[in-house]
Amino acid sequence: MKKIVITYGTYDLLHVGHINLLKRARDLGDYLIVGLSTDEFNRMKNKDCFLPYVQRKAVLETIRYVDEVIPEENWEQKVADIKNKKIDIFVMGNDWEGKFDELKKCCEVVYLERTPDISTTCLKENIIDKVKKLI
Ligand code: CTP
Repeated sequence: MKKIVITYGTYDLLHVGHINLLKRARDLGDYLIVGLSTDEFNRMKNKDCFLPYVQRKAVLETIRYVDEVIPEENWEQKVADIKNKKIDIFVMGNDWEGKFDELKKCCEVVYLERTPDISTTCLKENIIDKVKKLI
C-alpha cells in the first residue's frame, strides 16, 4: 500500500536545506504532502515572510519530491490532516525535536537532521549585509 508522508513549513526563499529535507521525507514513503503556512498563519506567528503563499506554493509544486501542497492555517489542524489524508509518517527537521511527539498517537513521527549552516533567516541577513556594503 502507498505510504503517505506529510511535513509542514514556511519554505520562504527556497534553499538547499529545504530540498534536502523534502528529498529525505519523500524517500521515507511514496507520496509527500507539504502543509505550507499561509500568509495569515505567518502573521499570527509574527513570521515576516518574503514571498506570498501563492508563489511559495508554485515553487514547491515544481519540486520532484513534492506530490501535493496544502495550506497550513493553524497549529491545531495536524491531527485532522493526518486522519483525512491517511498519513503514515509525519516529518519535521530536528529543530522541532520532541515538539510534535503527541502526534505519535496518530502516525509515525520522524525528526530529520537539519542541513547545517543554512536557513531563510540566514539568507535574508546575508542579502541585507551585501546590500549595506553596496550603499
Ligand atoms: N530545514 C532543514 N535544514 C535547514 C533549514 C530548514 O532541514 N537548514 C527544514 C526545517 O527543519 C523544516 C523545513 O525545512 O522541517 C521548513 O523549514 P522553514 O522554517 O521553512 O525553513 P528555515 O530555513 O528554517 O526558515 P527560518 O529561518 O525562517 O526559520
